Amino acid sequence: MNISVIGTGYLGATHAACMAELGFDVIGVDVDPEKIDSLSRGELPFHEPGLPELIRKHVDSGRLRFTTDMSEVGAWGDVHFIAVGTPQVKGGTGADLTYVDAATTSLVRSITKSGALIVGKSTVPVGTAARLYDLVQQQKNPGVELSLAWNPEFLREGFAVEDTLRPDRLVVGTRTEADEAKLREVYAEALGRDTPWVSTDFETAELVKVAANAFLATKISFINAFAEVTETVGGDISTLADAIGFDDRIGRKFLNAGVGFGGGCLPKDIRALQTRVAELGLDHSMKFLDEIDQINLRRRKKAVARAFELLDQDVVGKKIAVLGITFKPLSDDVRDAPGLDVAARLFNAGADVQVYDPEGNKNAAKRYPRLGYVDSLTEAVKDAELVVLTTEWNEFKALTPADLQDLVAAKRFVDARNVLPAAEWEAAGWTFAQLGRKF
Ligand code: UGA
Repeated sequence: MNISVIGTGYLGATHAACMAELGFDVIGVDVDPEKIDSLSRGELPFHEPGLPELIRKHVDSGRLRFTTDMSEVGAWGDVHFIAVGTPQVKGGTGADLTYVDAATTSLVRSITKSGALIVGKSTVPVGTAARLYDLVQQQKNPGVELSLAWNPEFLREGFAVEDTLRPDRLVVGTRTEADEAKLREVYAEALGRDTPWVSTDFETAELVKVAANAFLATKISFINAFAEVTETVGGDISTLADAIGFDDRIGRKFLNAGVGFGGGCLPKDIRALQTRVAELGLDHSMKFLDEIDQINLRRRKKAVARAFELLDQDVVGKKIAVLGITFKPLSDDVRDAPGLDVAARLFNAGADVQVYDPEGNKNAAKRYPRLGYVDSLTEAVKDAELVVLTTEWNEFKALTPADLQDLVAAKRFVDARNVLPAAEWEAAGWTFAQLGRKF
């Protein structure tokens, strides 16, 4: 079976490399020639542990190629995955389907091999697959049989390869048993003995994806709402999370209170879901997600407010070290990143902000060129009046008061991810604030 992957961004590049690892001949297609050139050399335009090695391995083995020429895959591919982005529309809250529509149309027009299956992987508003199914039937070349399936992706940045090769479940929305059987064949090697295989219709498959992300976002904002309470009344948010998490029905994962969620998925997905259900006349069904979004955005303001408190409301000209501006560790992604937002707000308030992130400085500098960026933690904290930890990279989680005390100008720290032992820092003479703790 020959496999093509249309779109070689984060999702597509990972999927293409993993399909080659599963033993298929794979071609990745993208409209961006620069991306194709660098992927062909085994170079990735973003940071993802293990992925460059996997791409190089299969470019070298001859199982993986990249091209800008759609017609090449139209005559060759048996299964075509659509893995292009669905960003938030500019100036709105819905999902921008321009790329999905363009990729599907251009693919369908190029397909000359009958019996091929097009498989959507992108995160889309419910109803998109049914619409694209009709589009495929209308636009296909005469005499060519084509079908479409929907197969949402659940990979996490930082664990993309692992999540694709060993998924915790596979969800496929199909209209025929033959399409489902074909997808089972594609994933046969990735399916462990107990990996759940969920075979369903288009609408369920589309909704599973956004429901999962909405649930994760809800868990985070749920604990962060309690953080607002413990900040006021006292109490320890991490112990609270541990204690409710011992209940299997709740679970401890995604209950880490802090500066909240960001990235290219959770924030835009909850907004797109609300927009889509509103279009369906169901405004009230997902109204709670608006609250989830608001709680999340308030956390960023709270981190800034803590910084102000520690500096007696006067940040102008004060050197503040911001540690971590990617939306989470093991990534260089700064899309909707809470840490970068906090850094920008402090800068706009007049502080001398010095950012250090192990992977994110370059991307952040493209968005906010005026912040100070340095290449090491030591440079960032040197002579700082305040240190703010906004992404929990291991390098920061391992910090001890002794590591910093001779470098900083004043022993003030805001741990906006609640990862350091407050008592230890306070005992060492630091004015130490966290989110979710009374200060
Ligand atoms: C998320 C989902 O976890 C994936 O399953 C999904 O496939 C992906 O979106 C997607 O739709 O493509 P990802 O965006 O890589 O994956 O990041 P997460 O690990 O979910 O973290 C999201 C944000 O939540 C981060 O900013 C993280 O710092 C924050 N978070 C996470 C918390 O604030 N508290 C927690 O307890 C957990």
